Amino acid sequence: MAKRQATKGAGSHAPDQGRGAIMIQPADVSDLDALIELENRCFEIDRLSRRAFRHLLTSPTASTATAWLDGKLVGYALVIFRRNTSLARLYSIAVLKEHRKAGIGARLLNWAEDEATDQGASVLRLEVSPTNKGAITLYRDRGYTQFAVYPDYYEDHSDAYRMEKSLIPDICVISSPVRHYSQTMDFTCGPASLLMAMHAIDAGVKMDQRAEIAIWREATTIFMTSGHGGCGPRGLALAAAKRGFDVEIFVSDLEPPFIDSVRSQEKKEVLRLVHEDFDAQVTEAGIPVRVGPLSMDELEARFQDGKMSLVLTSQYRLHGDKSPHWVTVSGFDDHYVYVSDPDDSPEREFYTGADYLSVPIPRREFEIMAKYGKGKLQAAVVIGCKPSRKKKK
Ligand SMILES: CC(C)(COP(=O)(O)OP(=O)(O)OC[C@H]1O[C@@H](n2cnc3c(N)ncnc32)[C@H](O)[C@@H]1OP(=O)(O)O)[C@@H](O)C(=O)NCCC(=O)NCCS
Repeated sequence: MAKRQATKGAGSHAPDQGRGAIMIQPADVSDLDALIELENRCFEIDRLSRRAFRHLLTSPTASTATAWLDGKLVGYALVIFRRNTSLARLYSIAVLKEHRKAGIGARLLNWAEDEATDQGASVLRLEVSPTNKGAITLYRDRGYTQFAVYPDYYEDHSDAYRMEKSLIPDICVISSPVRHYSQTMDFTCGPASLLMAMHAIDAGVKMDQRAEIAIWREATTIFMTSGHGGCGPRGLALAAAKRGFDVEIFVSDLEPPFIDSVRSQEKKEVLRLVHEDFDAQVTEAGIPVRVGPLSMDELEARFQDGKMSLVLTSQYRLHGDKSPHWVTVSGFDDHYVYVSDPDDSPEREFYTGADYLSVPIPRREFEIMAKYGKGKLQAAVVIGCKPSRKKKK
């Protein structure tokens, strides 16, 4: 990001040329005061705080542009990115009232799209109030489509439309069959992912904490690194089968998963016993277990048949820590695997469920992500609708 001369105070940060012409420039912390003044004049609620602005202006995963007219800050746009994904989000855009309808908003939006593309994003998403007709017109005219509604999004409890645009001509933004569900505990990514997958197949499946905990109790490995155990592929597959879904398991080897995550022999023994018990139940239930390298093409073929997959990933590449992490795969195209990630906690302040729903991840990157730990464990659970299962609307 290019640095500019720091000058304090709203309106005092004057580019020394271009009088009378709008100048779009990258922002830095020297623009903080001017940005806050503009923010306060443009928004009545949900304003970005000084702390949040400061954080975002120095964050490697955010970019801000400012619009200047005769040395006065008249607008800004802020885009955020998610590491190792191809998703960007227009976090904020605003133009001073007296300078609106003069094309500044459109120029800032163009900048946001260019910036997102430069950072490797293929999709730009945003939230907008259904009552903000001007902004909605701006977005629609520039190719954004509404893909969801975020209930109770704003401070005043009103809803937001979620809109998105594909920034790369040869990909089309796919409509996701998945509704996002956020895991409510550190160790329930598996149950939360399974709920999203089951709900995508049968909208009658309730996604709530009670269902999440019930699945965890059925599928947990008991122990993991510290605290409660997560869920392995067999436990999750059994939970899905019990709820009437057709299930298939993919694993790269037949060892008890996550056994290296605990040190004590006693805990290893418990994990082994749990694994053997799940294995016996899987055999008894007739659930097929495919052993070998996980193939995205195979998962894609199943997706084309209306099935949904949960895939085990290394949380490191999405969230920066080394825990195993289940996600729901909610689509494929030639370039991307679309992932719905139940863990929307780490950067909750700046990200919303929309940043976790059908996130495009380059196929190669997802293949790297979908290997956990030193042993590069690969695991997926594919679920489909049994002909006997009655779908609810
Ligand atoms: C939304 C906002 C940034 C637009 O900025 P702007 O500089 O007025 O936008 P532009 O002049 O570039 O307008 C571009 C297009 O947007 C649409 N548009 C913008 N404001 C509009 C309005 N009030 N009514 C209808 N259409 C509008 C038009 O299609 C316009 O194209 P046109 O000029 O060819 O008709 C500005 O209204 C604003 O700051 N609003 C308050 C903050 C806000 O709501 N931010 C968005 C949060 S999601």
